[in-house]
Amino acid sequence: RHLGIGHRPLSGRHALVTAGPTHEPIDPVRYLANRSSGRQGFAIAGALAALGARVTLVAGPVTLPTPFGVDRIDVQTARQMAAAVATALPADVAVMVAAVADWHVAAAPQKMKKGDAPASLTLVENPDILAALSQGPDRPPLVIGFAAETERVIEHGVAKRIRKGCDWIVANDVSGDVMGGPDNSVHLVTADGVESWDNLPKEQVAARLAQRIADTL
Ligand code: CTP
Ligand code: CA
Repeated sequence: RHLGIGHRPLSGRHALVTAGPTHEPIDPVRYLANRSSGRQGFAIAGALAALGARVTLVAGPVTLPTPFGVDRIDVQTARQMAAAVATALPADVAVMVAAVADWHVAAAPQKMKKGDAPASLTLVENPDILAALSQGPDRPPLVIGFAAETERVIEHGVAKRIRKGCDWIVANDVSGDVMGGPDNSVHLVTADGVESWDNLPKEQVAARLAQRIADTL
């Protein structure tokens, strides 16, 4: 059957997606990380590609196959992720799903020895990739962030949308086993208000979000 415009609504569009955690070195053999599996972000990249978009997926360290039709750039740290995002621009839509580490560590140049435990680790704030993109000169027309919260999910999501300067926030409750799990309960926060979606498999959250993006662009 003929694939009409309705079937590939994002063809000719470039979508930029970040996914996964970042790893921030403590020394050459140790790192600071978080529980993100990358599943939701990879599913979104795949869903956008399925609607015809050219997709650049900037991925932190995860063990997931690259979705069909997606160009993947692997990074380790938040600073590398920021650089890869800047290089991938321009884009028509950006979906920042990555659980970017908020801090990097003033890392030791050599492996730290057991007997010389540092009394503390110095944490330095990482660049905010979403805020920089939302407020920068190469801002995509549609910028979407995620808000991983363990309490007052909607309230934090609404505040985060304003603070970051993005168009939409997908706020999700990560107090259970969402990080790494197969399902996600999300609230879509836009300028028009808040829409709470049913608890769905991450693939279905991705398909719905991709369709919403296609309807908006
Ligand atoms: N984000 C980012 N760069 C960072 C931190 C976060 O791009 N250095 C993005 C995430 O990819 C996500 C959004 O910002 O799309 C929100 O991340 P979140 O951790 O919920 O927000 P923070 O501003 O870091 O606030 P906090 O962790 O204090 O709740
Ligand atoms: Ca954070």
